[in-house]
Amino acid sequence: MERKDLLSFQQVRFTYDEEAGTRPALQGISFTVKEGEFLCMLGHNGSGKSTVAKLANALLVPDSGTVLVDGADTKDPEKQLEIRKTVGIVFQNPDNQIVASIVEEDVAFGPENLCLPPEEIRRRVDDALKAVDMYDYRLQETYCLSGGQKQRVAIAGMIAMRPKCVIFDEPTAMLDPKGRRSILGTIKALNRDFGLTVVLITHFMEEAAAADRVIVLDDGKILLEGSPREVFSHTDTLVSSGLEVPDTAKLCYELNRRGVPMPADVLTEDEFTGAFLKLLKENGA
Ligand SMILES: Nc1ncnc2c1ncn2[C@@H]1O[C@H](COP(=O)(O)OP(=O)(O)OP(=O)(O)O)[C@@H](O)[C@H]1O
Ligand SMILES: [Mg+2]
Repeated sequence: MERKDLLSFQQVRFTYDEEAGTRPALQGISFTVKEGEFLCMLGHNGSGKSTVAKLANALLVPDSGTVLVDGADTKDPEKQLEIRKTVGIVFQNPDNQIVASIVEEDVAFGPENLCLPPEEIRRRVDDALKAVDMYDYRLQETYCLSGGQKQRVAIAGMIAMRPKCVIFDEPTAMLDPKGRRSILGTIKALNRDFGLTVVLITHFMEEAAAADRVIVLDDGKILLEGSPREVFSHTDTLVSSGLEVPDTAKLCYELNRRGVPMPADVLTEDEFTGAFLKLLKENGA
């Protein structure tokens, strides 16, 4: 069965301050995200990624073009509340998103504001904490958690609202490598096990490998779109747009340039080793 579009951007243009003559942050971009999909959005600083996030949950509305969320137009004031329930955003800094001193109270904050019955709140808080693997910490004080744990609590608070889609806006930018891995694992699991539609905005190319599809933004326009493999095979385009390419992809690119016929779509270290060994065998080494 064809999955329906949960997010649809159609020729969206947006400028923060038109009167001041600033350049458009988005210059007419079109893309869709299907229900249940895991999309990764990459782009250098100022390319328009966070603007996409804010347009997707009606914090901003386009100057021209249309943003549809589950069929509802973000320009329609009567739909905006529903749109914000459908699409949530998790930001970079967990400290700005945590509001209570005890983990479970923090996660309960959103559902309480939805005026749900207490037993429903309890169920949602427990489910959300289990989903991000923080249930054992439910009675802990939030200030003594690590950055990665705090971010998982912030994610739990978001999914306790039961949005259909969550946009993660550089959720690992402030974390150490361990925290980054744990958050990426949590995001993957929410998508795979709970069918959450995910848009992951990141600077880290290797995080994009987990996604179904990748969109690369460059100065408010879509530069590349495709599977991680397809996108990473355009190493020269990525590098000239100021993005860090995974080491394996970079190595393949350099080998190719020097006449060694490595495949262009190698992503992991294992794949690199496999392709390289195959090449050596073919050449009688
Ligand atoms: N509140 C604002 N007022 C004016 N201009 C803004 C505002 N927010 C963003 N911009 C500008 O809009 C453009 C796109 O910004 P945006 O924050 O969407 O980029 P980004 O890809 O998220 O960047 P980063 O990687 O730094 O988070 C940039 O040129 C930025 O300077
Ligand atoms: Mg941003």
